[in-house]
Amino acid sequence: MSSASEIRQAFLDYFAKAGHQVVESSPLVPRNDPTLMFTNAGMVQFKNVFTGQEKRPYTRAATAQKCVRAGGKHNDLDNVGYTARHHTFFEMLGNFSFGDYFKEEAIPLAWNLITKEYGLPKDRLWVTVYHTDDEAFNIWKKVAGLPDERIVRIPTSDNFWAMGDTGPCGPCSEIFYDHGDKVWGGPPGSPEADGDRYIEIWNLVFMQYEQVSKDERISLPKPSIDTGMGLERITAVLQGKHDNYDIDIMRTLIEASADFSSTDPDGDHKISHRVIADHLRSSCFLIADGVLPSNEGRGYVLRRIMRRAMRHAQLMGCKEPLMWRLVPALVSVMGRAYPELGRAENLIAETLKLEETRFKQTLDRGLKLLDEATTGMSKGDMLPGEVAFKLYDTYGFPLDLTQDALRNRGIGVDLDGFQAAMQAQREEARKAWAGSGEAATEKVWFDIKEEKGATEFLGYDTHTAEGRIDAIVVNGQPVNEAKADTEVSVVLNQTPFYGESGGQIGDTGVIVTASGAKVQVTDTQKKLGLLHVHIGKVVEGTIKVGDMTTLSVDVARRAAIASNHSATHLLHAALRRKLGDHVTQKGSLVAPDRFRFDISHPKPLSHEEIAAVEAEVNEMIRQNDAVTTRLMTPSEAIAAGAMALFGEKYGDEVRVLSMGKLPDGKDYSTELCGGTHVKRTGDIALFKIVNEGAVAAGVRRIEALTGEAARAYFAEQEETLKAAADALKAQPREVPQRLAALLEERRKLERELSELRKQLATGGGAGGPQVKDVNGVKFAARKLDGVPAKDLRGMVDAMKKEIGSGVVALTSVADGKVAVVVGVSPDLTAKLNAAELVKIATPLIGGQGGGGRPDFAQGGGADPAGAEKALDAIAEQIAKAKVAA
Ligand code: ALA
Repeated sequence: MSSASEIRQAFLDYFAKAGHQVVESSPLVPRNDPTLMFTNAGMVQFKNVFTGQEKRPYTRAATAQKCVRAGGKHNDLDNVGYTARHHTFFEMLGNFSFGDYFKEEAIPLAWNLITKEYGLPKDRLWVTVYHTDDEAFNIWKKVAGLPDERIVRIPTSDNFWAMGDTGPCGPCSEIFYDHGDKVWGGPPGSPEADGDRYIEIWNLVFMQYEQVSKDERISLPKPSIDTGMGLERITAVLQGKHDNYDIDIMRTLIEASADFSSTDPDGDHKISHRVIADHLRSSCFLIADGVLPSNEGRGYVLRRIMRRAMRHAQLMGCKEPLMWRLVPALVSVMGRAYPELGRAENLIAETLKLEETRFKQTLDRGLKLLDEATTGMSKGDMLPGEVAFKLYDTYGFPLDLTQDALRNRGIGVDLDGFQAAMQAQREEARKAWAGSGEAATEKVWFDIKEEKGATEFLGYDTHTAEGRIDAIVVNGQPVNEAKADTEVSVVLNQTPFYGESGGQIGDTGVIVTASGAKVQVTDTQKKLGLLHVHIGKVVEGTIKVGDMTTLSVDVARRAAIASNHSATHLLHAALRRKLGDHVTQKGSLVAPDRFRFDISHPKPLSHEEIAAVEAEVNEMIRQNDAVTTRLMTPSEAIAAGAMALFGEKYGDEVRVLSMGKLPDGKDYSTELCGGTHVKRTGDIALFKIVNEGAVAAGVRRIEALTGEAARAYFAEQEETLKAAADALKAQPREVPQRLAALLEERRKLERELSELRKQLATGGGAGGPQVKDVNGVKFAARKLDGVPAKDLRGMVDAMKKEIGSGVVALTSVADGKVAVVVGVSPDLTAKLNAAELVKIATPLIGGQGGGGRPDFAQGGGADPAGAEKALDAIAEQIAKAKVAA
């Protein structure tokens, strides 16, 4: 007996041999279709290849594609657990031709695989074709040699396959396996076809059309092939089972569920085990693909699936969370084919555990309420809508959980009543909001959010995705379309653009509609915490509400932002380790070219502290540890050591980001954060603090660079150093020493120069100052050249000392200006005032006033010709003064 893994591999090998490129499964969240909730078929990732929009280097492909059908056109949730073949998660094996081969090759390829490779007996096989498809009928007849009655013509949509309301589609031909007369049922097309005996195992779609809107269907550029074979179904056939839940993979999960709940896998709780096994797969794969439980969109579908399983665990009497314990069993059977499971194992386990722990708090009470509300009800009765709504609103019971809980008793739920109660609550919220006095300009966002719901953010996992325009706002007003050159704000159902929050600035990029209109996005803002508003300008064509678009984030810019954002976390941890636990984040700005980070700290960081912080952050970068994300309640996160921002509002669940490892294996940094980050710390490449200063009392601001910006900074520093070295004709490493020596030499020269000037002024060395006797007063005067005014004072003091009692006057012409300084010895100041003498002298050198004290004064002018006369005028004044005793 072959295992499911071997069957999957045999399929891929077979088509590889037949010239097909084996392509990896695409993620469960489709990147290329805004209308699809989840990838629900193998062809989804090739949708644009079929329509000719996208080219690939191959025209034949084969995949094993993970699929989820829970919500949207193909939704199997309600039946899961109760039937043999419904799943929310399954694998689809498929081969594809993009305008390469068509029916005549697809049919023999399929027939050969199942009859030769897989060895299914021909007499157990039946096929169907679309009733008008004679071509397919004849090929089957020729290739398989099946009698006419085993090639059934089906006139209904069963044999016309479509991906969704729009997208590629075409007639199809299905292969059925007859499980034998032990099972009730009739062949396809017969009145008993609904029975379980004849099971469809493979669907070959002859892709010929594209449904572009409800009313318009066009031909594809070339006829193509899309096939889908459920791995679980073919495995059941090949393992001799009738029920998909009996195949090896499902059985491993069911037995794990039985083990951990200490129940019989095939006893009273059989259905619960099946629900758990199925829902475990969809939950784990969705989480691995970046979906986390929430109250909106995809996250809510995940939550519904998880909670539905959790009620079944509760039904089996499990007191402790169960689902998370089953994750290793899943990884053991599917981790090799889907390595993302192993990579996300911790995140998956923690997310399941958290959801189950929290839901347990209300589950029992909700079930009690449900019991009370249905006492006395019997088969065919309806649970009132308000009760279902209360369970939903207060106890966190998704509607399908309530329906599932009542299913066994044949009780339904009044869905209209449920919707009415939901609507009434919305109106209340609207009234409360209208009264809350928020700016009227925000009303437009509130209305959009009410009508369209939150924007799904895909940007943790991708930079490009498709999205549908849900609203366009111009000048604060919603509009249906906007032409080129209009400044717009655009809201889409989903986006990879990050809306500014938590210090990280919004993304920029382009939005292009299917018809080629283009919006240049210059900023993305978040409104009401839930809407991502793309702000920019229509640069080409006209955009309309409802348009399907491709959104592309400016990738290089986002990578730089991510690098800076992750660096703030490492910096925060390093600062706390080096400066102390009093350090908390006071704010941050994360831009592409730099970031700043404000912390509480009472004094400037020393050079050594900065160097130590830089060294440690860079060490963590080199460690290249994977950055991991987990989901927790804020209080759990804080208990786990996460740093939260005081005063920041957090939701019920928060993303908790860890990076770096300490020698003891603990996380280096753990923070609550909704931002986008690098995958591994090594992506940051390099970290450098370029500034540190005060912003407010007790708050320091650090500015830093990472990656290319840090490299450019170092390069610039090196250039500067080189230029300095060149100027000094030295090696860069000699610069500090050479500069110090130069400065020292300069100081010495200045000292010598000053000394020389003094000597020059006082006539030193040539017999002392030339002193005249004027009116019995010693008068030393000198006209100097080129001595700066600031040096004259020192000279006057020196000369005064030299002559003991008397008057000293100096003029000096330097840089076209004339300075005059006068000093009077203390014994004479009562009779000869230096300030008075300067006042007499300054007009002669083209200046005015001057000033100072009786013992020292100075003045200046712009007329060098008067320098000599000024000294004479001072001598005359001394001559006139009454100095004799
Ligand atoms: N796309 C086809 C299906 O899902 C093969 O059945």
